[in-house]
Amino acid sequence: MAPLLATLISFFLITATAISSPTQFPFQPLPDLFDLTVDDIITGFSNQQFTSVDLVRAYIARTAEVQQALHPIIEINPDALSIAQALDDERLLHNTTRGPLHGVPVLLKDNIGTADQLNTTAGSYALHGSIVPHDSTVAANLRTAGAVILGKAGLSEWAFWRGTRNSNGWSARGGQVKGAYYEDQDPSGSSGGSAVAASLGLAALTVGTDTGGSIIAPSNKNGVVGIRPSTGLTSRSVVVPITVVQDSVGPITRTVKDAAYLLGAMAGPKGDPGDNYTDAIPSPEIPNYASHCTLTGLQNAKLGIPRNIFPAPINRTEADVQQIAAFEAILPLLTSLGANLTDHANYPDIHAYNTEAQFNLALDIGFKHDFPAYMSQLAFNPTGIQNLADLLAWTQDFQAEQYPLRSTDFWEASLASNLTTSSPEYLAAISHNAYLGSNATIQGALDLHRLDALVLPTAYSVRPAVYAGYPVIAVPLGYFNASTKVVQAGGGGDPSVWGLNTVAPGIPYGLSFIGPRFGEARIIQYAYAFEQATQFRYQKLPLAKFMPKTQLHTSMEADVVCPLEAPGLAE
Ligand SMILES: *[C@@H]1O[C@H](CO)[C@@H](O)[C@H](O)[C@H]1NC(C)=O
Ligand SMILES: *[C@@H]1O[C@H](CO)[C@@H](O)[C@H](O)[C@H]1NC(C)=O
Ligand SMILES: *[C@@H]1O[C@H](CO)[C@@H](O)[C@H](O)[C@H]1NC(C)=O
Ligand SMILES: *[C@@H]1O[C@H](CO)[C@@H](O)[C@H](O)[C@H]1NC(C)=O
Ligand SMILES: *[C@@H]1O[C@H](CO)[C@@H](O)[C@H](O)[C@H]1NC(C)=O
Ligand SMILES: *[C@@H]1O[C@H](CO)[C@@H](O)[C@H](O)[C@H]1NC(C)=O
Ligand SMILES: *[C@@H]1O[C@H](CO)[C@@H](O)[C@H](O)[C@H]1NC(C)=O
Ligand SMILES: *[C@@H]1O[C@H](CO)[C@@H](O)[C@H](O)[C@H]1NC(C)=O
Repeated sequence: MAPLLATLISFFLITATAISSPTQFPFQPLPDLFDLTVDDIITGFSNQQFTSVDLVRAYIARTAEVQQALHPIIEINPDALSIAQALDDERLLHNTTRGPLHGVPVLLKDNIGTADQLNTTAGSYALHGSIVPHDSTVAANLRTAGAVILGKAGLSEWAFWRGTRNSNGWSARGGQVKGAYYEDQDPSGSSGGSAVAASLGLAALTVGTDTGGSIIAPSNKNGVVGIRPSTGLTSRSVVVPITVVQDSVGPITRTVKDAAYLLGAMAGPKGDPGDNYTDAIPSPEIPNYASHCTLTGLQNAKLGIPRNIFPAPINRTEADVQQIAAFEAILPLLTSLGANLTDHANYPDIHAYNTEAQFNLALDIGFKHDFPAYMSQLAFNPTGIQNLADLLAWTQDFQAEQYPLRSTDFWEASLASNLTTSSPEYLAAISHNAYLGSNATIQGALDLHRLDALVLPTAYSVRPAVYAGYPVIAVPLGYFNASTKVVQAGGGGDPSVWGLNTVAPGIPYGLSFIGPRFGEARIIQYAYAFEQATQFRYQKLPLAKFMPKTQLHTSMEADVVCPLEAPGLAE
């Protein structure tokens, strides 16, 4: 449902300051915000070409250009400019920098807690106006690194953990996020707003969360890089959960090196009091992931192709056929970059994985436990919702939540089950899932063929990695071609209800590397070497009508007023 009249919630009256009027060097054109990287920002800052304030202004103006059409953002941080100004002052007046993210604007998915003027709601009015006890560890880490938290990105409400009948990218507060590569493009999910914002250059960097593919899947369909880190590498403290057993917070960016910088700032600390899964981090020193970004990164990489996770030939859709063809076509390039490929490095117990993995059970029981734990720590809870039964009743009753058009059946199934996180059946299912995601599949293939990592089309890389917390990186590989038949997104019902196109000419798809637990540095290295040799992100652009026109020079020249309209606030 399209929102009626949007309400203006934020105005940014920008006044020129000494710092935001830098001296521009001749012969150094300002970089394009569609592909601006962290390295470009570091260079631009040190040459005094632009400031963090300039970046924030430009990103807000770019967002305003596409917000009505694509709804990528839910809120802009009212303090973004003053934070950017303070970081500019720190850098310029005191000649100090905190590191590569100093002054870099970052968007967070709306389920990542921030103790500031921004709401943290997972897209739902059930959490609107709630106040978190303190920043999530991820947000705190980013602030310490000098990042400017620019706002909250749209998402599939509750990270799609609500009901089968729903559309990717829709939330009551944020409206329907759409991708920019085709008319009414399904953004995929659940971190669709982050991926669309990264794809169009609405922020330097974005952050998503992943429980069952929510970083990797939208990165796949929006032509960007996504990393689902090993479960526990990034803390879930003050992140709206689905289940701590599988949730992970990770980067969604335009380039591999940007993702490496961002992951380095977000990760850890080992032993975070708010998330005991961080105890598993191998060393208190988080690797310098960006230093693994070298052009020769694929030399002597032993990579395996787990073919038996691909759909069988008789079951392949047109989309499968194209993605597999593109994958086959780049294998010689991987070899020429120095990789040693082992074909048919199959998942050893694929049958058990296919027939025994219990995805929904783990989430059903996990959310029923972890959601009340999240609610109980809130400093202010305006709805009084404390548990899943409260949330179900409230959601079914609150008109903007669009029940029953959008269902709540995941929660109903969860409440109907008598299992808890201490039930033997649940514990057995979790432990069996851990086997199915490791020795039966990823770890089994790595060990059996003595591999460093696996490589495969992103579409088949999302699971089983989530069950045992393996890291995955997705990087652009290609685009559905001009003769592709348009496929609408099902969303648990009649696809015409949502009217979103999930496969269509020009929509991107990717290549993934899967590494061993805490093997992020290694897969970043491989993905970087591949990305630099191919640059598929620049082969085909988003539709021209969705390309924001604001550039740094526009935001630096004029005093701009940037209204951001709140798309979900239909009366
Ligand atoms: C700023 O710091 C750098 C290195 O930290 C130094 O090389 C440079 O001279 C300093 N600039 C000023 C103006 O103090
Ligand atoms: C957060 O929600 C409150 C309403 O509860 C609203 O007044 C405020 O403007 C929101 N913050 C932002 C940044 O939109
Ligand atoms: C974290 O702590 C909880 C409760 O103290 C415990 O049940 C759980 O097994 C721990 N998890 C890990 C991964 O250590
Ligand atoms: C093809 O898909 C059907 C339905 O999902 C499945 O039952 C069947 O096993 C698949 N065939 C092969 C050869 O994988
Ligand atoms: C698109 O890809 C399909 C499958 O690989 C192929 O059959 C078809 O010829 C391609 N069309 C164009 C226009 O390249
Ligand atoms: C690739 O790896 C296999 C298995 O370890 C080894 O036998 C082979 O010599 C390697 N090939 C190259 C070209 O390095
Ligand atoms: C759950 O427990 C209730 C009350 O003890 C019982 O009536 C119901 O049948 C149980 N449901 C299941 C699925 O076991
Ligand atoms: C995987 O196998 C190793 C030994 O090969 C064993 O130590 C480990 O517990 C197994 N992991 C799971 C999750 O089954």
